[in-house]
Amino acid sequence: MILLNDLKRQQLALGAELKAAVCKVCDRGWYALGEEVRGFEAEFASYCGVANCIALNSGTDALELALRCLGIGDDDVVVTVANAGGYASTAIRLVGATPHYVDVDGFSMNMTAASLQDAIADVSAVIITHLYGRLAAMDELVAIARGAGVPVIEDASHAHGARRAGRRAGAMSNLACFSFYPTKNLGAAGDAGAIVTDDEGLSKRCRQLAQYGWSTRYNAELAGGRNSRMDEMQAAVLRIKLPHLDGWNDRRRQIAAQYEQGLQNIPQLRLHTRGTDDDTVHLFVVECQDRDTVVEDLQKAGVGAAAHYPVADHRQRAFADCHRSESLSVTEALCDAVMSLPCYPEITDDEVATVIGAVRGVLGCD
Ligand SMILES: Cc1ncc(COP(=O)(O)O)c(C=O)c1O
Repeated sequence: MILLNDLKRQQLALGAELKAAVCKVCDRGWYALGEEVRGFEAEFASYCGVANCIALNSGTDALELALRCLGIGDDDVVVTVANAGGYASTAIRLVGATPHYVDVDGFSMNMTAASLQDAIADVSAVIITHLYGRLAAMDELVAIARGAGVPVIEDASHAHGARRAGRRAGAMSNLACFSFYPTKNLGAAGDAGAIVTDDEGLSKRCRQLAQYGWSTRYNAELAGGRNSRMDEMQAAVLRIKLPHLDGWNDRRRQIAAQYEQGLQNIPQLRLHTRGTDDDTVHLFVVECQDRDTVVEDLQKAGVGAAAHYPVADHRQRAFADCHRSESLSVTEALCDAVMSLPCYPEITDDEVATVIGAVRGVLGCD
């Protein structure tokens, strides 16, 4: 079976270093807010090209705390997209606000400037996800939001290291959120996340909110605080992996090129050209007619294909009371058609060729 993602291979490659780093934490007997977390924060902020990084427990915490930092709460509406797995929606609901979904571009699959423009008058914040690792049209989107005085949060959980015009994901908004869930391009050995920002005031608020709202120990200054600390072991693991990230992203782009070459001229597939520097190819996604059957047939043929994400947020019961733009037709069409193929740095060229052969076989295009 060729898995969608095989985390054991990265563990095998870096195992000795990772084990030593984790043992070092245990030997120190210092598990939270220690030198590994501080070291990772400095290294990741510098990698992203921003002044501050606050290491947290998960990407969902990062999104929630970013909203809280901006003072978003009960009566607020936050604009976002409905094809990105529901993570932004979960965070928006956690702070008591309401998501407003706008449609996406059929090719980049990200939020469009036109749809944001239509919604911006009525919202308090924008969450922009760089879906599947491809940077959204940030110049246009941020200009619209700034023009309306609305803050922007990037969800860069798929886009660690994506770069455009000399700037990385995370350096294009008021606050940017990352997940380091194990399958991410930069993945921990469990849950972890972070916020990065150039804004010193927001950084300070975020750090306080992530530790009970404390100003100093046992002095709870900010309402809405809680515990969301990345632990020392996760930070130690991430510090070992960060220097490999650019190389791993390059390899993902090579895999995308190999797929694009091998999957040409299949009438049931629509390819979305990938593999530029502004795309980390977190997931290699194509549109496919009769997707659910094809995914099933590929699994039977030994290929771990999947759908990210099959149900749009406005069609989820949990987010039923959302606001939405009149038409989400592109979003809905994509949710019915998107199919992810195995793509991770350690997959071999031969395995990619096997996946291509399986897709061609299942679709009758040998
Ligand atoms: C785009 C996106 N945002 C946010 C999250 C949430 O991150 P976490 O699972 O670390 O809470 C995920 C998780 O998979 C994600 O894919």
